[in-house]
Amino acid sequence: MDDPRRYLDQVSAGYQDAIILLAANHLGVFCALQSGPRLAIDLARELRCDPRALDVLLCALVAAGILEQPTAAHFALRADLAPHLAPGSDQSLASILDHHYHLLASWVQLGEVVRTGRPAAESAGESDDRALRAFICGMKDISRRSSEEVASLLPALGRCRRLLDLGGGPATSAITFCRRWPQLTAVVFDLPEVMPIAAAEIAAAGLDDRIATRPGDYETDPLAAPDEAPFDAVYVSNIIHGLDTDATLALLAKAAAVLAPGGLLVIKDFFLEDSRTEPAFGARFAVNMLVGTAGGKSYPWTEVEELCRELGLNDLARYSVAAHSGIITARRPV
Ligand SMILES: C[S@@+](CC[C@H](N)C(=O)[O-])C[C@H]1O[C@@H](n2cnc3c(N)ncnc32)[C@H](O)[C@@H]1O
Repeated sequence: MDDPRRYLDQVSAGYQDAIILLAANHLGVFCALQSGPRLAIDLARELRCDPRALDVLLCALVAAGILEQPTAAHFALRADLAPHLAPGSDQSLASILDHHYHLLASWVQLGEVVRTGRPAAESAGESDDRALRAFICGMKDISRRSSEEVASLLPALGRCRRLLDLGGGPATSAITFCRRWPQLTAVVFDLPEVMPIAAAEIAAAGLDDRIATRPGDYETDPLAAPDEAPFDAVYVSNIIHGLDTDATLALLAKAAAVLAPGGLLVIKDFFLEDSRTEPAFGARFAVNMLVGTAGGKSYPWTEVEELCRELGLNDLARYSVAAHSGIITARRPV
């Protein structure tokens, strides 16, 4: 560290650029700029914002390197950032940014969370529907690329016929896998309120005949009907970080129970080294789960591997995936 004071200045002011970006995304600034450079006054009218306040925000976005000014009066998207800021593009991060905007209310309670050990109080305000949509569609922003990578890393998935995508959210992974492997069918299990989003994604992909949605609570409901054929694979992506160790063990046991003998359990998450300080993303994500859940956390690889062994699973393997993720695979004994 060359200059400790400067380092602390930078870290402590980091929230400002983040909130400038997230608020602009939330207000629809980037969506409105998709059609080309605009005057602040026109944007304020379209977005129903106070013109003076929006002008301050736009100038700060330029200062942060997020927007540019083709003339002194116009504001524009930077060409390299535009595909990621535009909602609807297949490289879009607009939903996950909106999800982060909603998370801010919990993060500012971190001091109190650490004092009491309890998650942040839910904040009233934005409609639950918009927050839910931001969360679930944000998962699509994240999983679009990582699911492709998982598919390339795990050719064993390509030999499966029936896959359960547990807590599958917007069905991004089920869609990616079914597109790649024509013999595969999938069931996406998630909470009832998430099902319309998943169903719309599946329909848009033209895969209604191969991907079914199953509403339920994975902690309290059965994952499959008693007379249903077992699954060749169960995909558990970014689920266990929301659960404490006991709940994770219980969920993995339920997942293993619906697998065929020799079936594959795939657990994807932001795994930590045993130090729990690395990688930095995982250590920071643990704070996100601390403020947002009663017992969720970033799991060390070794803890989840131990849980798999406790369940009698074998053939364990680890893989690293981009976007700070890892995968543990394990098989139900034949
Ligand atoms: C972090 S998201 C991960 C989504 C998806 N698996 C992915 O990796 O993109 C967690 C998912 O678990 C679902 N979920 C949370 N609690 C659940 C529960 N008790 N039963 C079923 N699904 C649940 C959420 O609705 C959400 O879709």
